[in-house]
Formats: sequence, C-alpha cells, structure tokens
Amino acid sequence: MAEIGKDIARARQLLMEGHLVAIPTETVYGLAANALNEKAVLEIFKAKNRPHFDPLIVHVASIEQATTLATSFPQEAKALAKKFWPGPLTLLLPKKEIVPDLVTSGLNTVGIRCPDHTTTLQLLQSLPFPLAAPSANPFGYVSPTTPQHVNEQLGDKVAYIVDGGECSVGIESTIVGFEPAPTVYRLGGLALEILEPVSGPLHVQLHSTSNPHAPGQLLSHYAPHKKIVLGTRTQLLEHTHANAGAIVFEHILTGIPATHQIILSASGNLEEAAQHLFAALRALDKAPVDYILAEVVPDTGIGRAINDRLRRAATLQN
Ligand code: TXA
Ligand code: MG
Repeated sequence: MAEIGKDIARARQLLMEGHLVAIPTETVYGLAANALNEKAVLEIFKAKNRPHFDPLIVHVASIEQATTLATSFPQEAKALAKKFWPGPLTLLLPKKEIVPDLVTSGLNTVGIRCPDHTTTLQLLQSLPFPLAAPSANPFGYVSPTTPQHVNEQLGDKVAYIVDGGECSVGIESTIVGFEPAPTVYRLGGLALEILEPVSGPLHVQLHSTSNPHAPGQLLSHYAPHKKIVLGTRTQLLEHTHANAGAIVFEHILTGIPATHQIILSASGNLEEAAQHLFAALRALDKAPVDYILAEVVPDTGIGRAINDRLRRAATLQN
C-alpha cells in the first residue's frame, strides 16, 4: 500500500526523481509523472496497464505554461482557457516537440488542462515541468475520487498519494478540440450549456470503437466488474430482485433491499449526483449483489456526462 499524505515537498521530490505520484484534482485523482520525461511517462502506462494508443492529458499551472507545450492557441481555445481554467476542461492543441510522442500516442495534438485544486496547483507551481496524468485507475475501470480508491487498486504501483480529500466534481474533464471545428470529444465536468456561450456552437463527437486513435475514448470504459443494467425507473422495475443493487437518482426503487441502493442526490441535484457517481459504482461492485441497476438521470447539464459514463459502464458486460 502507498503512503497517503499532504506533504507537497515529498511529492515534488519524488516527481523530480521520475517517480509516479497520485494527485487530487477537482474531477478525479490522477496518476502523475513528469510529462517531459519519457521514462517516467512509460511507468504510467505500465502501472495502469494502459495501451499506448490512448494519449495522456498534461496538467499545467497556468495558461503561460500551456503555451510552452502548444505551437498555437486558437482564438476559441484562448477564450475557453481564460474563462474556465483552472477547471474541468481539457483543450486539444497542436503540440510542440518537447512533448514526448508517448504522451500523445503519436498524435500531433496534446491534451492540456489546468486543474482546479489548491494542493495540486501548489505542486504544479513548484515544479519545473508539467504533469502527465491519466485517471489513477487500472485501464477500463471506474475513475477514483478519493485517495483510498487509488490505494486499493494502484497502492503498490505508486510512490505516494497526495491527499486532497473527495473530488468536488467527481467526473472527468470535458475534452474540446478545434480542428477542423470546435468539437467536444468527451462530455465531462463542464457542461455544453456553460461552454457554448464562450466558445460558440460546439460539435459533439463521442466514442469510437473502431478507431481508438480518434480523440475521445473507447466505448467500453468506466466499468465495474459487475453487470450493469441501465434504464429509466419504469424499465428498471422489470429487473428488480432481492439480489440486485441499484444506483438511483433521487428515490429508491421498490423490490430491492434499501441497503443495496445508493441515492446519488436526494434533492435531485445533478452536480451532487456527479460527485457521488463513481464512489457508488465502486461500492456496489464490492457489495453482496449479483448485478447493478442504474437509473438514467435528466439529460441536461452535467447529467449528460453522468449518462455517458453509465452507458459506457453498461456496455462492457459479460
Ligand atoms: O479530468 C480529467 O481529465 C482526469 C484528471 C486526472 O485530470 N484525467 C483523465 O485522464 O480523465 P484519462 O487519461 O483517464 O482520460 C484522458 C482522455 C483519454 O480518453 C484520451 O484518449 C483523451 O483524453 N486524450 C488525451 N490526449 C488526447 C489527444 N491529444 N487527442 C485526443 N484525445 C486525447
Ligand atoms: Mg481514465
């Protein structure tokens, strides 16, 4: 098991030496290494068992640091960064040569984001390099939103886990690219309704099973080990059973023991639901239930990203 603590100087030292450190962000915990050190980045792929065709996001302390990694910053990207950084938004920008090809999986763009977490911003500001960091989970599994989640799965692969408490957003960053036109490749912590007034109209192009090189991600992802049945309340009521678990939006379902149900937000708040989603998937994956029913949430705001994650979790099943 890894040590969990708040010692930024220790985290800094380990990262300077090329080791892996898990870091908190407002979205999910990341598994970080020096983004400009190919050897250190290779360790990330190994620890996560992540295929090399899946590129990493590079975390920076500021827009200024981002400009050291990108050859240009399109107008819309600049506007978005100014408005939403630090925040749950990753921008795909044309990469400079100093960014190793391993980080970008050979693509000519690099995903960059400035995370909104005080501790990690302090760490980034103290380092002479940016941090490559995918979510700190084994490839394909649910992202971690607490230091304990990281420790349970990657505790023996990481030198230190920086404790930043429970993530406030709870769902990964929204990914936006600009070639040939401003496009969302992953729905995430920042909703389309909030982005568009600043960026102008955005295309949405999600998942690709046939071409994992395409920005965004694989369809089957974020998956617990247990089978997930996704549906509306009415649909789910046909699948209730004493051995089932359920993740519901506001109210529990009849026909399933209440102890095996997790309410994401009793007040029907989508932000709160997003924050609790991944912990709920993990908890029911460990609970004595045979399968998990998951209720779709209203498809608006961050609710779209919640439904996207649930759909992907439900795809990869026995
Ligand atoms: O909120 C987040 O973004 C978290 C925290 C730790 O910052 N990170 C995260 O990283 O979710 P990861 O590696 O789990 O997901 C990154 C996604 C991948 O699906 C990858 O395909 C995509 O970003 N990506 C990264 N660089 C890209 C690029 N140059 N072009 C297209 N997609 C890219
Ligand atoms: Mg991930």
